[in-house]
Amino acid sequence: IKKIGVFTSGGDSPGMNAAIRAVVRTCAYMEIDCLGIYRGYEGMIDGDFIPLNARSVNNIINKGGTFLKSARCPEFRTPEGRQKAFDQLQSAGVDALVVIGGDGSLSGAEIFHAEHNIPYIGIPGTIDNDIFGTRYTLGFDTALNTVVEAIDKIRDTASSHHRLFFVEVMGRDVGHIALNAGVGAGAEEILIPEEDLGLDRLLDSLKRSKARGKSSSIVVVAEGDRTTGKNVYELKEYVEQHLPVYDVRVCVLGHMQRGGAPTCFDRVLASRMGVKAVEALLEGKTGFMAGIRDNDIILTPVSEAIKGHTKIDKELIRVSDIMTI
Ligand code: F6P
Repeated sequence: IKKIGVFTSGGDSPGMNAAIRAVVRTCAYMEIDCLGIYRGYEGMIDGDFIPLNARSVNNIINKGGTFLKSARCPEFRTPEGRQKAFDQLQSAGVDALVVIGGDGSLSGAEIFHAEHNIPYIGIPGTIDNDIFGTRYTLGFDTALNTVVEAIDKIRDTASSHHRLFFVEVMGRDVGHIALNAGVGAGAEEILIPEEDLGLDRLLDSLKRSKARGKSSSIVVVAEGDRTTGKNVYELKEYVEQHLPVYDVRVCVLGHMQRGGAPTCFDRVLASRMGVKAVEALLEGKTGFMAGIRDNDIILTPVSEAIKGHTKIDKELIRVSDIMTI
C-alpha cells in the first residue's frame, strides 16, 4: 500500500479531527502517502481530494466537527455512483481507505469493497454509541459531557421555578446517550426505546417526586423512544392534564450535542484507533472496524459490527431506578 485515502462520512462527531490526525501522522510515520477526501462519499465521487502530511493536521486534535467535512450521500447508494468514486480513487492512486463514520458509512464501505475490492478499515465515529464491536464510539463521551452540562444548567432554572422539564436528547433509535447522561445528570426518569416503562409508571414516579418535596424534576427522553407513544411536547400536555401540580417545560437539545471540543477520552480513543487502522491496512487486513474492548484496541469484521446495535446497560437502568428514590 502506497497511498491511503481518509474521509469522514455521515453525522459528524467530536473526535473525528483527532482520528484524521492520527491516520495522517501514522501514514507519515510509515512513510506512505495520505490523501484527504472532502465531504465523505460525495467528495469521493467528485474527486475532491487534498494531499495531507504530518503538518497539515497541526492544531486540530482539540477541534470539534471534521475539517474534511462530512455528508450523507444518496448517489453512493447506486452502483453508478460507486463506480465514479472508484474511478476517482484510481486516478488519484489511492489503494486503501480509512472511513470514519457511523453504521451507514461503514455499510457503504463494505459494499464498495465487495464491488471494487479496495481495502478499507473503519473507525466508528458517531455520538450514538450504536455500533457493535466497540464499547465506545468516537464522540459518545464528548456528547455525554455536553448533555450533562446542559442538563445541569436546565436544573438550575427548573429548581428555581419548581418546574418539570422534559429534555430530549439524540441517539437516533437507541438510548445510550439518554441513559448515561440521565444517570450522570441525576434525572428523575429516563425514557429510552429499549425499556418500556409506560405512561403510568411515569405519572406515579412524578407523583412520588412531588410528594417527597423535590424542587425540580428532569425527565430525559431519547429521541428514538416510542414506548410512551408520545413525543416530548405530547408528554408535556399529558402531564399537565393528569398532574396539573406540575409546571412543565420542554427542551430539545438537538445538534449542540454533536459539537464542541472532544474530551480527552475521545482524543485518546481517536488517536489509538487511527494508528490501529493504518497498521491493519499495512498488515494486509481489510473489512475490519477498530474498536475498544477492556481498554484494548481490537478489530471486528465490519459485516458483524453493522449487524447489531450494542446492548443497553441493564445495570445502569437499575442504578437509575435506585437513585430516583
Ligand atoms: O447519528 C448521529 C445523529 O446526531 C443522531 O443522534 C440523530 O438522530 C441524527 O444524527 C441527526 O441527523 P441530522 O444531522 O442529519 O439531522
